Amino acid sequence: MIQSKESMLLQIKELGDDRGLLAVVESHNSIPFDIKRVFYIYDTLPDVRRGFHAHYKTRQALICVKGACKILLDNINRKTVVSLDSPTKVLVLEPNDWHEMYDFTSDCVLLVLASHLYDSEDYIRDYDKFLEVYGE
Ligand code: TYD
Repeated sequence: MIQSKESMLLQIKELGDDRGLLAVVESHNSIPFDIKRVFYIYDTLPDVRRGFHAHYKTRQALICVKGACKILLDNINRKTVVSLDSPTKVLVLEPNDWHEMYDFTSDCVLLVLASHLYDSEDYIRDYDKFLEVYGE
């Protein structure tokens, strides 16, 4: 069994002036890891649900920079739903967070900052395997 860690929902500062708004995230400041990879999910079709995996190593920070979506988190002890509906909300996921993303608004741009480069071997896509790796 691998040690479980808890996800965190952070609220970052909105830096605004008469030109508009700006928000910033930094490695080891707002985000507790080195950012090695950035990807974004956008133009998601209606009723799509995606994700359905956990990881062995990768930590991620999710920010809905436009629009909104919901994230179901399951760390075996607890299932929670987080609504990402503001560019100032940052959801930090641990490797042991099984996650599913849904209810994307048509304008949603979901930005994901990741601690590792893409590696398909780092994915746990089978729920029984997830229970085996992270269960008691
Ligand atoms: P996928 O993992 O299915 O998305 P999700 O699980 O979040 O619904 O990713 C879709 C495709 O994109 C899949 O073929 C893998 C590829 N991909 C990369 O090549 N690099 C990446 O960093 C990510 C996240 C996905």
